[in-house]
Amino acid sequence: MSADGKESKSGFRAWLDHRTGLDSLLRHTLDEPIPGGAKIAYVFGSGLLFLFLSQIVTGVFLAMYYVPSADHAHTTVAYITKEVTGGSFLRSIHAYGSSAIIIVLLLHMTQTFLYGSYKGRRELVWVAGCVLLALMLGMAFTGYLLPWDQKAFFATTVGTNILSEIPWVGNGLKELLRGGTEMGTLTVSRFFVLHVFVIPACIFAFVAIHVYSFRKAGAAGPATEDPVSPKLPAETFYPKQLVMDMGFATLIIVLLGLVAYFWPMDLGPRADPADTQFMPRPEWYYVPVFQYLKYWHGSTALLGILVIPGIVGLLLVGLPFFDRSLERRPWKRPISVGLFTIVLLGLAALGVSSYRQDMRNPGVAAQLRAQQEATKEFMNAKFEPELSGSSLSAQNVALSNPEAAKGKEIFEAQSCNACHGDNGVGTAAAPKLVGVGAKYDAARIAALLNTPSAKMTAGGMPPVQLKDDEMKPLIAYLQSLN
Ligand code: HEC
Repeated sequence: MSADGKESKSGFRAWLDHRTGLDSLLRHTLDEPIPGGAKIAYVFGSGLLFLFLSQIVTGVFLAMYYVPSADHAHTTVAYITKEVTGGSFLRSIHAYGSSAIIIVLLLHMTQTFLYGSYKGRRELVWVAGCVLLALMLGMAFTGYLLPWDQKAFFATTVGTNILSEIPWVGNGLKELLRGGTEMGTLTVSRFFVLHVFVIPACIFAFVAIHVYSFRKAGAAGPATEDPVSPKLPAETFYPKQLVMDMGFATLIIVLLGLVAYFWPMDLGPRADPADTQFMPRPEWYYVPVFQYLKYWHGSTALLGILVIPGIVGLLLVGLPFFDRSLERRPWKRPISVGLFTIVLLGLAALGVSSYRQDMRNPGVAAQLRAQQEATKEFMNAKFEPELSGSSLSAQNVALSNPEAAKGKEIFEAQSCNACHGDNGVGTAAAPKLVGVGAKYDAARIAALLNTPSAKMTAGGMPPVQLKDDEMKPLIAYLQSLN
């Protein structure tokens, strides 16, 4: 853009500028004054914007393959990871991108906090930033379930169970989020809609509020600067700060690319709701919360789950309203800087103690290692297009064989599905029946149903008393489950 831009503009440029005001918009954006000049310390905000854009681009490509249902989610993610060219790299960039966002978010918050950049008519900037933090944590939580592997399933089960501790509305909230009492296809589809439509739309809105109110108040400059009427000589955003911001974005993409290339994100075995041993562990940034929640049970649960987080949240969001002084230098603000440090150190300590507890308990450590082994084994196995025994193929077999179709009705009428799950896929109460046909012959199944083994009786399974014309179809149905 030359100073005499008006004269040198070609026909198209002039037309475009006339219609859109693009030139003045660009000038306004790039000429933002920064009191005290450009600084590396200011790069985190645009780094976050850059990471968010990267998540959108990688997310769009993932969504081209992904199917949000309990039957297909895991298979489609396995397909992306094992079959699609560059699919594993793409998925890794997206998955590690969420960690990168949390790290840069922490740096951005710490910088603006220490510099007192929320002071002097910048309340809205700070509040919108806090909402963005919550929305990003929501993105991380909803995204974690989508691969529908073991850790996704069980971590989200634990995560949504916490909601039911909230009095009166807790159970309602949990069922709203899950789309029922259990985790299933409706849960995947709700989390998908939140992750892809609802939360991103809110993020766009709050980024707009955040950036607009930031530009309205003006850049705050260094901690020694007056936050309302800056006195230091200003430098424009372009070129120095822009170059620094772009340098930081480049650093981010190079680091993300290296991590994604050398340590591709893994995928565990498909979620098995009947597994009672699995120990879910959240993503690192949720570990402190996970550890914290362990300390609150029974009568104190409310204090730990609602009251304390409520107070901490209120203090954080309301910070620019409570802290009205215009003093910005951190060493002159011992109380707020002290509180901020205590919360950060507390979170770090909780995280460390969670890892140490896991390592100190041999049973837990062994189970976690076994889970890692299972994940490695799954990752090394060849891609299987459609899992045998998926409820869909079981249903199709049952429907194509009239006797088995009748058996399916009996299976449901006898409430076998209450314990063994719809289509015999298994639940926490009873094992899956998929594959029993290969395990036992018809006579053995009939004998087991008439006189259940001690273990079946212990599991609450009643003896099945049916006439031959119902027993046969039921057994035919059980044999069709493979
Ligand atoms: C109250 C829960 C419950 C109900 C209802 C129930 N079962 Fe079971 N069933 C179990 C449990 C628990 C086991 C496994 C015990 C063990 O071996 O660990 C089992 C085992 C079985 C097995 C043996 C599976 C194997 O691999 O060894 C068959 C077959 C079976 N059930 C069929 C049925 C049928 C058919 C019905 C409906 C008429 C039914 N069950 C109803 C709880 C139930």
